[in-house]
Amino acid sequence: MSNPVYLALDLPQLDAAKALAEKVKAHVGGLKLGLEFFCAHGSHGVHEIAQVGLPIFLDLKLHDIPNTVAGAMQAIHVLEPSIVTVHASGGRAMLEDAKAAAGEHTKVVAVTMLTSLDERDLERTGVGGTPHDHVMRLTELAHDSGIDGIVCSGQEVAGAHKQWKDGFFVVPGLRPAGSAVGDQKRVVTPRKARDDGASVLVIGRPISRAADPVQAARDIEATL
Ligand code: C5P
Repeated sequence: MSNPVYLALDLPQLDAAKALAEKVKAHVGGLKLGLEFFCAHGSHGVHEIAQVGLPIFLDLKLHDIPNTVAGAMQAIHVLEPSIVTVHASGGRAMLEDAKAAAGEHTKVVAVTMLTSLDERDLERTGVGGTPHDHVMRLTELAHDSGIDGIVCSGQEVAGAHKQWKDGFFVVPGLRPAGSAVGDQKRVVTPRKARDDGASVLVIGRPISRAADPVQAARDIEATL
């Protein structure tokens, strides 16, 4: 089984991000680059990180009219990402067109509800019901639109997996037992998320901010 851990390279400097990736590459399965990295370093930065030799997850959280999202997906073909994120709330046509425009080897996964939002935020955007109802509704939409899967928390993955047996589940917000939680709420361990059906485990600070990132990545790998 290949290593399901994607290291979140949330470092502002390209050189530092690449150096960290080089260091831990034997103990993670892929590298996640976010919107901040992409805005700062563009395609050039992605090519640089791709030289490390691991699959690249572009966490761009695309959300626009279907034609624009499809165009963006086509524009990133050349970067050959293994995973790209879009927002489920962009609607069915946007999700379908994103998938149709994606490369053959690119998984398109939908962010359901940002973890920074709560019930009050939903209400203010005109969405009724609980966050859980909203996540489940958007999971069904993602499934029906023919994309590959969703991004969800470790606490939701077992339920989502039950509802979508062959879905591809990307799970962030993970913390090895005993490590600092930081700004993440409702954390679970990488092992628990894996056992509950996660396909990809997104892990950032527990590795990138560890005194010894290589050892931290090895320790996580050993629990899986
Ligand atoms: O450092 P940490 O392990 O918390 O990093 C988690 C990564 O996953 C970050 O890049 C963060 O932006 C991303 N993410 C998240 N929660 C979500 C979606 C993405 O933490 N719901």
